[in-house]
Formats: sequence, structure tokens, C-alpha cells
Amino acid sequence: MRESMPLNRYIRVSGAAMVGREVVMGKDDETGEPERRRRSGPVTGGGDARSAKQFRTRVKTARGRKYSSKLWLERQLNDPYVARARQDGYRSRAAYKLIELDDRFGLIKPGMRVADLGAAPGGWTQVALRRGAARVVGIDLAEIEPVAGSILIKLDFNGEDAGDALRTALNGPADLVISDLAPQATGHKSTDHLRIVALAEAATCFAFDVLKPGGDFVTKVFQGGATGDLLNQLKTGFRKVRHYKPPASRSESAETFLVATGFRAAASRDALKRT
Ligand SMILES: C[S@@+](CC[C@H](N)C(=O)[O-])C[C@H]1O[C@@H](n2cnc3c(N)ncnc32)[C@H](O)[C@@H]1O
Repeated sequence: MRESMPLNRYIRVSGAAMVGREVVMGKDDETGEPERRRRSGPVTGGGDARSAKQFRTRVKTARGRKYSSKLWLERQLNDPYVARARQDGYRSRAAYKLIELDDRFGLIKPGMRVADLGAAPGGWTQVALRRGAARVVGIDLAEIEPVAGSILIKLDFNGEDAGDALRTALNGPADLVISDLAPQATGHKSTDHLRIVALAEAATCFAFDVLKPGGDFVTKVFQGGATGDLLNQLKTGFRKVRHYKPPASRSESAETFLVATGFRAAASRDALKRT
């Protein structure tokens, strides 16, 4: 069980300048994304497939390395989004998913208050700040290196203290809630599936609780998931709900995003009461 700690132990207001070209990349971006199939061929993530194939780097030796790790490493080395993230100083290739979502739906506006759920290693937080958000509060199970201008909370989003910690740090209603939450995959399909749906539902309840009228919400879901109830809830709570899989989301991943815009506060409270 998580030991209870005072709030100020969890919340760290980062004061350090953003590390220019720092790239903290690991499997974080991939965890919990159940893939419909694994493949060893080039994953271009929307880049030029032919040139990616031409210059594809292969990891020759599997010595001391599991085959799955060799494939992961090969995929990272050949992924144009990984290279772009390094160039642009983003901590994860996932940053481009939010960039593409924002380019498409115009979600982030200067001065906004944003909650970033499942924030580690910090790519989405960086994007929200670079695009003008005034206050970004991120939460994750994992420790996140400080990102200047953000408040990063190391806590289980499902834990009892998470809601209060986030609300305190937000210090007012949110304009935008973004959730890239993804549980560590267990490999057991139905267990993984239930955990993913539960996280998206918890993110939705939180969004209903903290969004200001007219606010927007983005959550990661997985295709083929039992998202019917979630969709109905969102349709009641928001003026528009759309599915979008940004090009940066790997085609072999079942991951996609629900984009709900125009929060209707009163209708949402009624919808929550009914569940
Ligand atoms: C795909 S990663 C997020 C990547 C991030 N958006 C970025 O741009 O760097 C998903 C994150 O969800 C986090 N996560 C999963 N379950 C969680 C939970 N119950 N509470 C907090 N974070 C959780 C994981 O630790 C992981 O860091």
C-alpha cells in the first residue's frame, strides 16, 4: 500500500530551466500500448517509408538481449519521430501526438490551465507549455524530471490523494485535461483491456470534475475497447466528441484518442449522478 505523505512531498514546482536537447527516452512511450501485431519491418510513423527502409539500422547482435528488446531498439533507432524528438528537445516521441492533436483541433491556447494525466517523461507537458499554457499540472506514477513552468506530481492517479493534489496544484478550474494514461501491459489481454478502460473512465470523471464550462478533454483509448459507456458519457458532457488517431501514433498500435470539446458543466453533473 502506498504510504501517506504530506502533499508538499509529492508536488515539486520546477524552477530549473528546460534542458535544451535533453531526451529522456525509454519504453515509457510504448508501455501499455497493446499492439494488434508486432512486426519487425520499418515503422515510419508517418515519415517517408522508402527512405526509412533504405537507411534502416539493424541491431546485429542479440547477445544478452531478449528478442523483444532487440526489436524495440531497432524500432527506436529507425523511428523518424524519435529522431525529431531528439532534435526538437522533446522527451518523448509521444509529444508529436499532442502536437498533431492540437494542430487538428486547436486545443491549446495561451494562458490556459492544463492537467496532464500520465505525464512521464514529460513530452505532453513540454508541448502544452511551448504552445502557451500558463499552468500545467502533470501526474504520473513515475518520477518526472522538472520541466520549467510546470507542477509535476508523483502519485497514482487512482489513489485517494490524487484528485485533491491535482486540484490544489491547478488552483482553479482547468481549461483542458489531457490524458495519455496507459498501464504497464501484463500480456493478459482481458486484464490489460479492463485496466485501460478503467483509466480512461477515471480520467473522464476527473475532467468532469475540474473542467470549466466550454473546456476540452482528450483521452487515450484503445480500438476494440468497450468504450460505449464512456462515449455516451462524453457525448452528454461535451458539445462534440471525435475519434482521432494522430499520424505519430504507430499504425500497429490499437491506441487512438477521444477528443471531447465544449464542456457542458450542468449536463455532465447530471450524467455523473446517473452513473
Ligand atoms: C504513454 S506514457 C505518457 C507519455 C507522456 N504523455 C509524454 O508525452 O511523455 C503513459 C504514462 O501513464 C502512466 N500511468 C499509468 N498508470 C498510471 C496511474 N495509475 N497513475 C499515474 N500514472 C500512470 C505511466 O507511468 C506512463 O508514464
